[in-house]
Amino acid sequence: MPVRSSDVFADIVSKLDNDSNAFVAKLVNAQNSGDLPVAMGPRLREFPGQWRSKFTNVTGDRQAMPLIVEIGCHTGHTLCDMAERHPEALFVGVDITFKRVIHTAERARERGLKNIFVILANAGGLSQLFQDGEVDGFVTFFPDPWVKKKHAHYRLYSEVFCSTVYRQLSRSGFLWLKTDQEPYFQTACEYAKSAGFCETASLPVFADGDFSSLFLRRFELKNLPWYGRKWTKFDA
Ligand SMILES: C[S@@+](CC[C@H](N)C(=O)[O-])C[C@H]1O[C@@H](n2cnc3c(N)ncnc32)[C@H](O)[C@@H]1O
Repeated sequence: MPVRSSDVFADIVSKLDNDSNAFVAKLVNAQNSGDLPVAMGPRLREFPGQWRSKFTNVTGDRQAMPLIVEIGCHTGHTLCDMAERHPEALFVGVDITFKRVIHTAERARERGLKNIFVILANAGGLSQLFQDGEVDGFVTFFPDPWVKKKHAHYRLYSEVFCSTVYRQLSRSGFLWLKTDQEPYFQTACEYAKSAGFCETASLPVFADGDFSSLFLRRFELKNLPWYGRKWTKFDA
């Protein structure tokens, strides 16, 4: 069940019948009990500017750790791979469905990863989630392309998205896109350029290698093309 409201602090759950979707109840219980590192709705008001302090099970100086956000984390394959390879960083997964948020948080727990937090939120409300300069990297792998013109307003990449991300990034921050849709890729590149982003070959934090994803593997299995671009906020 996707959350369509782009007010990320809205109380979506009170309008739903918890019994109609087991994952709604599971997410409510997990958030209230603290059993899983998850949050949604009004609880998210506590987070902007305080993200690093929410990773209570991480040892070390959390305030000095890079904060990386994956938008559209699905069931957490890429997020867990990134967090496992980079214990020196903190990772936030964002997804729009209750089920995927739960699956991501459960996968992180199964893999013993303490440096992951997962939130239920529509990225249309991104500006509410992070303070300016709070994030060190945004990962956006295979965002839904919404190819029909009448659905274009649902697309993740827009002028507003790129300028919001730009503001929320630290000085050494980055934005990383992979997509299977060439027209989407081209317009995303234009938006990123207009927002001030600089293309780069290598990213801070992830300089040591690449990451695949569930959708990337699906496209590769079918020999379908895909397009990728990395940007930093300023020229490296
Ligand atoms: C095509 S899948 C790609 C999943 C994963 N990134 C990968 O590459 O395998 C897109 C994901 O983005 C999520 N999503 C779609 N629109 C979103 C939005 N507005 N905000 C947050 N997540 C969204 C979907 O629920 C889904 O998990």
